[in-house]
Amino acid sequence: MKRIKLWDEVFEISIPHSEIQLAINRIAEQMKVDLEGKETLFICILNGAFMFASELMKAVELTDAEISFLKLSSYSGANSTGEIKELIGLNEVITGRTVVIIEDIVDSGQTIKEVLNQLLAKGAREVKVATLLFKPNSLRADIKLDYVGLEIPNDFIVGFGLDYDRRGRNLKDIYSLVKEQFKN
Ligand code: IMP
Ligand code: MG
Repeated sequence: MKRIKLWDEVFEISIPHSEIQLAINRIAEQMKVDLEGKETLFICILNGAFMFASELMKAVELTDAEISFLKLSSYSGANSTGEIKELIGLNEVITGRTVVIIEDIVDSGQTIKEVLNQLLAKGAREVKVATLLFKPNSLRADIKLDYVGLEIPNDFIVGFGLDYDRRGRNLKDIYSLVKEQFKN
């Protein structure tokens, strides 16, 4: 298995680009059926989802769709849950629209749940979730995922948009962290 080093950690290939591409094509075919004629607004969550969004949008080919990008900034608010995520960069009118969130990975599900709730609060008619990767054994939030590319175990991964301390986002394959005892 091909190995790479990012900072002080070793990663080995776990999902080759060809497999990612097949998963994206499956989602795109489903979206063409579900979203035709709905004037969908796709929202790509930066930074992680940039590569997935790019490949997915090219495969979907809806002629009435729009795409926008948003970033989440975490800050500690004065509420009991501690962390609040603020949506930055969303200037589109959401009221009455079909919105599809494009995310790189759903882990605990907290991020997606927060974005979903905020879009519904802005008056979206329906909000769907598309995630390239899903760690079912980590999920703690009560959310419905409409489009899932690949289900993966609870390993830490990088590549195809996902990073380890800012590095690895540019890699076209996905790599898993090699645990200490298997490094040599
Ligand atoms: P959640 O809110 O726990 O679902 O976390 C989602 C976010 O955590 C993703 O958008 C990623 O930025 C990050 N994340 C979760 N798992 C991984 C991983 O294995 N590698 C890199 N980033 C991850
Ligand atoms: Mg992310």
